[in-house]
Amino acid sequence: MKNALLKNYNRYPVEFVKGKGSILYDKNGKEYLDFLSGIAVTGFGHQHPTITDAANKQLSKLWHVSNLFESTPQEELAEKLTKATGMDSVFFCNSGTEANEAAIKFARKWGGERKTIIVANGGFHGRTMGSLSATGQSKLWEGFAPMLPGFKLVDYSNIKQIKNSIDKLTSAIMVEPIQGESGVIVPDENYLVELRKICDENNLLLILDEVQTGIGRTGKLFAHQYFDIVPDILTSAKGIANGLPLGATICAKKVSDVIKPGDHGSTFGGNPVAIAAANNVMDLLTELQLNYITNAGVQIQEIIIALKNPLIKTVRGKGLIIGIEFTKPIAKTIAKELLNEGIVVGNSGDSVLRLLPPFIITKDDIHYFVKIFTSVLLMFSFSNGSSDIANTN
Ligand SMILES: Cc1ncc(COP(=O)(O)O)c(C=O)c1O
Repeated sequence: MKNALLKNYNRYPVEFVKGKGSILYDKNGKEYLDFLSGIAVTGFGHQHPTITDAANKQLSKLWHVSNLFESTPQEELAEKLTKATGMDSVFFCNSGTEANEAAIKFARKWGGERKTIIVANGGFHGRTMGSLSATGQSKLWEGFAPMLPGFKLVDYSNIKQIKNSIDKLTSAIMVEPIQGESGVIVPDENYLVELRKICDENNLLLILDEVQTGIGRTGKLFAHQYFDIVPDILTSAKGIANGLPLGATICAKKVSDVIKPGDHGSTFGGNPVAIAAANNVMDLLTELQLNYITNAGVQIQEIIIALKNPLIKTVRGKGLIIGIEFTKPIAKTIAKELLNEGIVVGNSGDSVLRLLPPFIITKDDIHYFVKIFTSVLLMFSFSNGSSDIANTN
């Protein structure tokens, strides 16, 4: 019964069968507070009334239509995304990795003879061969070499290395505004502004992967909007349709101009049901909602810092993408303990706990999380990190 799924995931022995708002229910009826949102996906929680209604209405009208035909809902969403970013056009696909594949292809077409894209160590752009080759984590390449040529790795948040690595074959720089999968790594404050400047001075494309940081997660629609810059290619997915599969590659005019019919495509990309949900998500991301996300994030970080727990090394992030780095490699075990206690969180590697709560969390949700988190930390303090509970990995 449980053997036919490929073993490419290390799954927790919990099965969620229902969700409502920020609460998940497992098959035994146990409640969990969702502080992971399906890894930055269900920003507006589970069964959000207007998003669900929009998707349901579309489901009862039309499920699928080929991209050979016009689509007003796709046009509407593209209009919302380009208007909000000051960009020009949008290609819709189904996931983050596909949005990045398109970005890589578009950059290669735009670059002509210049095919090299500078990417960052620790970056994560997806699992398909192009995006994986752009991903600066060699452990994820093991067994899958050869990687695609045309990527040059530099250290994240290191402007000097970027400048030194540009040559006559460079066409673009591609980074995340905050590295999510690597442990919520926030770069230097001037990093993105400097990258924009370097790209302008050297006629390079600035590609920002906002698959995880976009769609309100950091308290702006896209994280780069904190810095008053506009990228040349911007990728989005995860939260864009609140859980239905949708990705977007948003292009500046100079990129749109080089793409011709037949250059790229997707059968399912821009599926009407996902687009209906996404149009509603965009409408829900008002200034008020974005401020709420910002303030909730500040509140969580302040409370956790104030715990002054010796097991906590740093707390970082922006809005509702928060990393808690421990002084010991206990993140996975803490995540497991929290799950036992009815709270869903993520971890990045051994030392960082990742919180990606939905945007609709209440003060009570935050206080409940902190209460349970504190009690789990207390168990670790008593066990000095060496008892059974610290060794359940
Ligand atoms: C920054 C970033 N880019 C790309 C991806 C890949 O997205 P997907 O899993 O939808 O292919 C992820 C997923 O975690 C991500 O965080």
